[in-house]
Amino acid sequence: MICIRRARPADAAAIGAVHVATWRTTYAGVLPEGYLASLSTLRHAAGYEAAIGDRRHGHAVFVAVAKGADAPAGQEAAEGGTIIGFVSGGRSRRPQIGEGEIETLYLLDDYRDRGVGRRLVRAMAAHLAAIGCRSAMLWVLKDNPTRWFYGRLGGRLVAREAIRFAGQGLEQLAFTWDPIEALLLATAPAPEV
Ligand SMILES: CC(C)(COP(=O)(O)OP(=O)(O)OC[C@H]1O[C@@H](n2cnc3c(N)ncnc32)[C@H](O)[C@@H]1OP(=O)(O)O)[C@@H](O)C(=O)NCCC(=O)NCCS
Repeated sequence: MICIRRARPADAAAIGAVHVATWRTTYAGVLPEGYLASLSTLRHAAGYEAAIGDRRHGHAVFVAVAKGADAPAGQEAAEGGTIIGFVSGGRSRRPQIGEGEIETLYLLDDYRDRGVGRRLVRAMAAHLAAIGCRSAMLWVLKDNPTRWFYGRLGGRLVAREAIRFAGQGLEQLAFTWDPIEALLLATAPAPEV
């Protein structure tokens, strides 16, 4: 079983570990090797712990938790399950593009293509709608190998801009869902038959 719930401060270490593992696979060949090798679970865990506790600007973090038969091998009996992915966001830093922003979304490789990403996005879209955001947006690197996901969810490509990250020039793309109901609809669970 995989469930989605709001993150707690005690989840920060596991979120930091998922961050480091997923960045290393997703951004291999996109970001410098030395930068990816230097990523620190401890440092990211501290950052996520602060993010979980910071509710300003409607900020929220949700986690995907795998339990029982769906848990990673050897962790089936882990009390409370194992964190395999997360999403974070809040009111947008660029409201002219979209009022709510999905800031991070990462899922361990072994759990992809099973609808978990869609469920994480839905949790965040529902949260953003609940705090009054009428539209949603996110930034994704042009070279991100999974950026197709946002087109699949009906996101509209509305902006592209050059940035510098880890000492490298990159291009990032902004996708929007306006109104936000378009994102809620695109991530709605399939009706049971
Ligand atoms: C992006 C990500 C969260 C998607 O999660 P996921 O659980 O694999 O996605 P889902 O299973 O929910 O798939 C959603 C849709 O994409 C489709 N899809 C899956 N793989 C695909 C591919 N290679 N090409 C096109 N569509 C694909 C699925 O079929 C599904 O559509 P459908 O239900 O209409 O058939 C995940 O791939 C990930 O963590 N990527 C790396 C991290 C990252 O880049 N994060 C974003 C930073 S901004």
